[in-house]
Amino acid sequence: MNFKFATLAGAALGLALIANPAQAQSADKGRVAFIKNGCWQCHGFEGQGGQAGLPLAPNTKPLAYITAFVRNTRGAMPPYSEKILPNADLADIHAYLQSRPAAPDPKSIPLLN
Ligand code: HEC
Repeated sequence: MNFKFATLAGAALGLALIANPAQAQSADKGRVAFIKNGCWQCHGFEGQGGQAGLPLAPNTKPLAYITAFVRNTRGAMPPYSEKILPNADLADIHAYLQSRPAAPDPKSIPLLN
C-alpha cells in the first residue's frame, strides 16, 4: 500500500467514524474478532480474499447469509459454533467487513499509469 493511498484510506475511515460512532465502534471490535478468530489467515486482513478464502469485502453479503455460512459450512472452511464465535462477535465482524472501503480505480493511482 503506498503512502498516498494509506492517507486517503485513513481520511475516509476518519470521516466514517465521525459520521456514525456506534457503527464504527462495532467495526473496531469486529476487526479484533476477525483477527482473533483467524478469519484473516484465509480471507486477508481486509477481507479482500486470498489464496484460501473468498473475498468478504467490499460488497459484503448480509449478516444472515454470513451467519448461516459460518455456522454450517462443511467445505474447505471450518465451521464456527456459537460457543467459539458468539453472534454478537459475528455481527461486529460483519460491521468491520462492511466498513472496508472499495478499492480505488487503478486509473486514479498515478504510480500505475
Ligand atoms: C482455513 C481457512 C479459513 C478460515 C480460517 C476462515 N475461512 Fe471463511 N472461507 C474459507 C474458504 C476456503 C471459503 C469458501 C468455502 C466454500 O465455498 O465452501 C470461505 C467462505 C466464507 C464465507 C462465504 C463467502 C461467500 O461469498 O459465499 C464467509 C461468509 C466466510 N468464509 C467468513 C469467514 C469468517 C467470518 C471467518 C472467521 C470467523 C472465516 N471465514 C474463517 C476459508 C476460511
